[in-house]
Amino acid sequence: MTRADAADPAVVVETNPARMTDFVRTAQLAGRRVGFVPTMGALHAGHASLVAAATDACDDVVASIFVNPTQFAPDEDFDRYPRPLEADLALLGRLGVRRVFVPALDAVYPAGIDRRLTVAGPALPFEGAIRPGHFAGVATVVARLFEIVPADAAFFGAKDWQQTLVVKRLVHDLGLAIEVVVCPTVRETDGLALSSRNAYLAPAERARARALHDGLAAAAAAWAAGNPVATAEAALRRALEARAVACDYAAIVDPESLAPLAGGCGPAIALVAGRLGSTRLIDNMLLPARTTEQR
Ligand code: PAF
Repeated sequence: MTRADAADPAVVVETNPARMTDFVRTAQLAGRRVGFVPTMGALHAGHASLVAAATDACDDVVASIFVNPTQFAPDEDFDRYPRPLEADLALLGRLGVRRVFVPALDAVYPAGIDRRLTVAGPALPFEGAIRPGHFAGVATVVARLFEIVPADAAFFGAKDWQQTLVVKRLVHDLGLAIEVVVCPTVRETDGLALSSRNAYLAPAERARARALHDGLAAAAAAWAAGNPVATAEAALRRALEARAVACDYAAIVDPESLAPLAGGCGPAIALVAGRLGSTRLIDNMLLPARTTEQR
């Protein structure tokens, strides 16, 4: 256990899984509710909002920073994923986080033990289809992190909507006593959802990246005006085309199962994934239920 920053004595970095578990259990035995914010680092205001939500709901907040190799395919950005550890720890310290778990690879994946999980249901379409193995990697690491950090509640961003469904399903299927709290997406002024991967965008790509949110807003307007689902999806795709963003998917589906909408009334979620050069971005927007008269 090391102090990350002498100027900020509240930041305590923990690398040892057993000591991390002990910290959480000791707090809970003292009657304290512990909130957990798992991250891969490269923290931004979206992560800060998760810590703020955890601080509001819990007595102690802990976080983890671990760039999980098992959720990246061999051709993805694991090697170049940003790792500004000192800045991340300083931010978490300023936000009042009590412990930051920063494990080595073999602390998460001990040699000789195969903990890989398989996933189904909401893990299969969209990101699951385009990034085979991604959600199995997410589920495996989150299950292991929840084992090491047996918090009362864990906080995730709505930007990764499909991931939140996978984590909820994991908690249900493993019978874990941890509440999964989904917090609103934090956006730049032009609507771009905050993401650690935004740092990859060249200035011209950054300007075009607003297409994802513009498209979601267009889809939401078409939805609210009573248009068929296909019309609203087409409005989303058109916004990507208008700014030359390659579209991986643009779909309006059931927000819990991610299956096609039965009946067209919703509630629904619009999901989008687009590519700008070598950078892939995702975003989404919840669409409220509409009456049959609105359709
Ligand atoms: O959303 C993320 O940052 C990661 O997928 C998570 C949940 C920390 C698992 O590695």
